[in-house]
Amino acid sequence: MTARILSGTEVATAILETLKKKVKQLDPKLVVVQAGDNAASNSYIKQKLKSCEAIGMRHEHIQLAEETGLPELMMLIENLNREPDVSGFIIQLPLPKQLEKHTPQILRAITPTKDVDGFGAYNLGKTFLSKEFEDLPPATPAGVIELLHYYKVPIEGQHAVVVGRSNIVGKPLAIMLLNRGATVTVCHSKTAGLSLITKQADILFCAVGKPGMITADMVKPGAVVIDIGVSRDEEGLKGDTDFISVSEVASAITPTPGGVGPMTVASLLRNVVRAKQRQVEMINKTRNLDESML
Ligand SMILES: NC(=O)c1ccc[n+]([C@@H]2O[C@H](COP(=O)([O-])OP(=O)(O)OC[C@H]3O[C@@H](n4cnc5c(N)ncnc54)[C@H](OP(=O)(O)O)[C@@H]3O)[C@@H](O)[C@H]2O)c1
Repeated sequence: MTARILSGTEVATAILETLKKKVKQLDPKLVVVQAGDNAASNSYIKQKLKSCEAIGMRHEHIQLAEETGLPELMMLIENLNREPDVSGFIIQLPLPKQLEKHTPQILRAITPTKDVDGFGAYNLGKTFLSKEFEDLPPATPAGVIELLHYYKVPIEGQHAVVVGRSNIVGKPLAIMLLNRGATVTVCHSKTAGLSLITKQADILFCAVGKPGMITADMVKPGAVVIDIGVSRDEEGLKGDTDFISVSEVASAITPTPGGVGPMTVASLLRNVVRAKQRQVEMINKTRNLDESML
């Protein structure tokens, strides 16, 4: 069997095209905050800003010094929370060493209405409750769900195995799949007998960051494989799957690059548009309320 390629580039292009009209109407603005000069972050930010340009979305890249301290970053977050012209902003992860241990506190400081990465407790909580409550869901899991939807891969009733349990990818993805009727198993670094579990998956998701760790013998023949992990070596970007051998066993697979990466960017920009829409609705509601009290 040679697997069908699930192209995230194709789906993301379609999503970005649908966003253009709303961007023109609402004129949202995304701010990307980076501390330091991490090479992988530079490349992710470049992709995000390039996609903003492609759809006419206003954007700003604030690059802070590598040695930025917590008070300075928190003050910037507070200013961005208050600035009415900023529809949404993200703190590009990973942060430099002195800030990394404060990541939960930093993400918590972003006001939920501008948390377009969807990493804060409020938006994660809404994502947890049900798919109807999702508003600004975390970009990568939302992109993965959209990719499955586009290629008509059924989720309901399927056994989904998610390898990786981070708060920004594995866990929210598992919940979003559960809320769509999948039976979900989550694996992590302490999981015993990983391949016995991955072999049971109808849809296998890998979000680890260990290139080639998922080999053909770990995949059920005919399974759909969604490779989220990204690692870089001298040859370029690599996913978590041993792509060539797994393609011989799976019925469909995402490539790296060109798979989940572009979907993450498209979902992020969709969240920015949604955030701006909610902010406009809120302003109108308050105005109507004020007028009704006159
Ligand atoms: N394509 C995209 O747009 C996109 C977006 C976001 C992230 N990513 C990529 O996705 C990967 C995961 O990102 P993340 O932020 O979730 O990373 P993370 O926070 O480092 O989480 C990695 C997860 O993998 C688990 N793990 C580590 N070794 C394992 C093993 N041998 N067997 C099974 N599980 C193992 C860890 O388990 P423990 O919890 O037990 O430590 C952890 O839950 C990275 O490569 C990242 O670059 C890609």
